[in-house]
Amino acid sequence: MSKTASNSAVNASQAQISQNKMNQTGCSRGLSADSKKVDPENKSMSAINTTANIVLRRAFGSRIKPRVAWITNEVVRRGFSPGESLTAEDSAALYKSRFRFASENHLRNCRSSMKTSAKNQVTPERLMQFGFAYAPPLVIGAAVSNKVFDSLAGGAKTVAQLSKETGASVRGLRAIMNALVALELLKKDRHGNFSLTPESEAFLVSNKPSTLAGFFPMNMKRLIPLWLKLDETVRTGRPAEARNEEHPGTEFFTELVENIIPMSYGSANALGDHLKLAKTKTETRVLDLAAGSGIWGIVLAQKSPHVRVTAVDWAGMIPTTKRITQKFGVGNRFQFIEGDLREADFGSGYDIATLGHILHSEGEERSRNLLKKTFRALKSGGTIAIGEWLVNDDRTEPLPSLMFAVNMLVNTEHGDTFSFNEIKSWLEEAGFKKARTLGAPGPSPLILATKR
Ligand SMILES: C[S@@+](CC[C@H](N)C(=O)[O-])C[C@H]1O[C@@H](n2cnc3c(N)ncnc32)[C@H](O)[C@@H]1O
Repeated sequence: MSKTASNSAVNASQAQISQNKMNQTGCSRGLSADSKKVDPENKSMSAINTTANIVLRRAFGSRIKPRVAWITNEVVRRGFSPGESLTAEDSAALYKSRFRFASENHLRNCRSSMKTSAKNQVTPERLMQFGFAYAPPLVIGAAVSNKVFDSLAGGAKTVAQLSKETGASVRGLRAIMNALVALELLKKDRHGNFSLTPESEAFLVSNKPSTLAGFFPMNMKRLIPLWLKLDETVRTGRPAEARNEEHPGTEFFTELVENIIPMSYGSANALGDHLKLAKTKTETRVLDLAAGSGIWGIVLAQKSPHVRVTAVDWAGMIPTTKRITQKFGVGNRFQFIEGDLREADFGSGYDIATLGHILHSEGEERSRNLLKKTFRALKSGGTIAIGEWLVNDDRTEPLPSLMFAVNMLVNTEHGDTFSFNEIKSWLEEAGFKKARTLGAPGPSPLILATKR
């Protein structure tokens, strides 16, 4: 593409449209500066370096900071092992390293930097980046499946050595490993030895307790195929497969839940600290609804031996929940209720109820009923805690929560993402008081409310 061609597309109104679109879509603090560096004519910068870095930063915030990396390594060294819990600072570091993109500051900075670039010319560069935005998760998934990160956990290697060890082709490995260098998930020295970065060491080596490695092959196998039918889903308004129903939901979530533990671990930890569970002297009963891995109950149980958890999920999920609670060493303080949230009898007298990442797949009507049912199950003074991907009242940001709404369109009959004020109004309708947010690691703050 010539500079003349891209220049010819420029006028003030287009620049304004571009700015508005960028504000709506979200951007990273580094984008404006990086964008200026990106020149389709500049052969000295590889396309993958400019495109992939910007795409990745747009999706996940800026690169892992040295301090964050250091803390993250500490987090990983200590692991999510039974009896050991992360401090609020650890959790915050874990959060920042993965979920920085949703912060208010970030969005503010994004806007101010875009004002500057709106004065500049519009180019097709951003759309070109979107054109290949599918590549990073696929490259990561292929690397996980071909044991690239696991193998490099044993030390730096060349492509040839890795090919010999894993059986994968030299041609394939060379392509994805170089791309992973540009994605800042691998380092390469001048002798062609590849090694892990703090981020890939923390989150992409499969035997680490904090690993997200399994998510990427699962994403390729289970999530992306439905996204490929998005045009048809938009036309009909219906998903190709409704994962909010017991079948195929059970099969889908059995593969998913362990892979998303890092998303909720820090939030659950912040909740336990906020409720001062470590100081409790009397039995504290937790109702973990849509328990999945059981991570919310697990973390709360790790805070105190007085915590007892009742986990509710579909019958086919409970063996997975049981296995993971045992792995974390708290299985003997769990009991289980098998059944759909709409039909199961939750019992009563709970001090705390957690709803981790369930309202979005249930959709509005079922969520409102679930909140009413949860209210009845709590004792007076009990707390409900909701982990969600929140959107603002206008549904214009943040980008990850709006993308997650599309994910719900693709995967469920009525799922969506909601604002704090929407959920607050449902909580009040159910009888809860004092609906509030609690800053916590995760895609969005937690929502808490009290039964009075
Ligand atoms: C996204 S996972 C969240 C798991 C866990 N709470 C967390 O935050 O990591 C949703 C869980 O809800 C369960 N689930 C979804 N719809 C359900 C329903 N209608 N009844 C019972 N369980 C359901 C799924 O089996 C899955 O374990």
